[in-house]
Amino acid sequence: MNPSKLALLGGTPVRTQPFTAWPIFGKPEEKRLLRALHSGKWGKLNGPEVAEFERRFAVMHGCQHGIGVVNGTVSLRIALLAAGIRAEDEVIVPTYTFFSTASAVIEANAVPVFVDIDLDTFNLDPKAVAAAITPRTRAIIPVHFAGQPADMRAIMALARKHKLVVIEDAAHAHGASYRNQPAGSLGHMASFSFQSSKNLTSGEGGILTMNDDALAAACRSIHNCGRIPTGIWYEHHVISGNYRLGEFQGAVLNAQLDRLETQTKTRDRNGQYLASRLAPLPGLHPQKRDADCTRHSYHLFMLRLDSEKFGAPRAAVIKALQAEGIPCSGGYGLSLHHQPLFRNKAFGPYLPQASAKLNYLKTDCPNSDLICREQCLWLEQGFFLGTRADMDDIARAFEKVYANRDGLKQWFKKKAAK
Ligand SMILES: Cc1ncc(COP(=O)(O)O)c(C=O)c1O
Repeated sequence: MNPSKLALLGGTPVRTQPFTAWPIFGKPEEKRLLRALHSGKWGKLNGPEVAEFERRFAVMHGCQHGIGVVNGTVSLRIALLAAGIRAEDEVIVPTYTFFSTASAVIEANAVPVFVDIDLDTFNLDPKAVAAAITPRTRAIIPVHFAGQPADMRAIMALARKHKLVVIEDAAHAHGASYRNQPAGSLGHMASFSFQSSKNLTSGEGGILTMNDDALAAACRSIHNCGRIPTGIWYEHHVISGNYRLGEFQGAVLNAQLDRLETQTKTRDRNGQYLASRLAPLPGLHPQKRDADCTRHSYHLFMLRLDSEKFGAPRAAVIKALQAEGIPCSGGYGLSLHHQPLFRNKAFGPYLPQASAKLNYLKTDCPNSDLICREQCLWLEQGFFLGTRADMDDIARAFEKVYANRDGLKQWFKKKAAK
């Protein structure tokens, strides 16, 4: 038993207990699910669960309208269609995000224009956004990455100046706030995801939120086969589909929503505490908290590891932390514009004209490339539902890895030479 020796090299791990498991559920989910089951009303159009959830979620996120949909990818596409995006219009997106933020743009037959992020906050850099605006730009999709709202003051100012639509990708930002205003109400429309890993989940699902009545009417119609409130059942007004959330998901989400406020406070408290513990270590840069961020939802706890200053490469640090009982990863391996989909312009039937002119190899986003290639570390949201002692374990593991950095570096070199 040697607690100071790295577990990777045969020492005792800092932690053997698992962190808080996700999802958290219990009797309230069971009760609502069974009630929905026995009611026989399984679809959104005739049951009460999704309608209740839409109302409550919208209010919690500062909005008059909430429209439950099948996931947080189609929600982005619906928002783009509702905004009147036309073929080959340009939509600015960060290159450091999940694929959907940009794939939804392609599926709206529009052109994603990739922009770099700020190296401290990991959110869209407004200066880079300003530089990317052209006469064809119609919309911006800022992502509230990891759960910290993007620089919405700057982004909305650009949107006003250039008459652009802003769609928040709030897939990570349930319960987050910016200058005390909820994420989801900061742009013209917002999109949330309820996929399994998310801070509020029903396995799959999504919601659109907004305050504008006309945009809400457009989204409602698009998510429901182009129907309109005054129309008859088989009357379809716009190109669209059936993107409605189901009642079983609504039942689970209503029960999950009762837990969201407390869980978000816990994540934010733990996340801030862990950041304060890790920041003093050489070469570690936890995501900088923007002064305007009044609540971070910590869908991810992210940090940058400067290997030179820390004294060991990221891949070795991840292995060492995992062996200490701290599951973590490097997150995205590639900026989105380097993904084969964009490099090869594998857009299927979309963008037939624009494709020939597009060249994503010319996109230059060094900050995103740097963190993908060698610096980023991710810890997942479930851990942050635990106790301060859990955070202390994570911090202790980092401290131990740092204290053993020379041995770790040698181990990694030997391993790489084999
Ligand atoms: C930033 C971001 N946007 C959009 C999505 C898409 O959500 P969904 O998986 O519900 O389609 C995700 C999901 O991982 C995401 O992380």
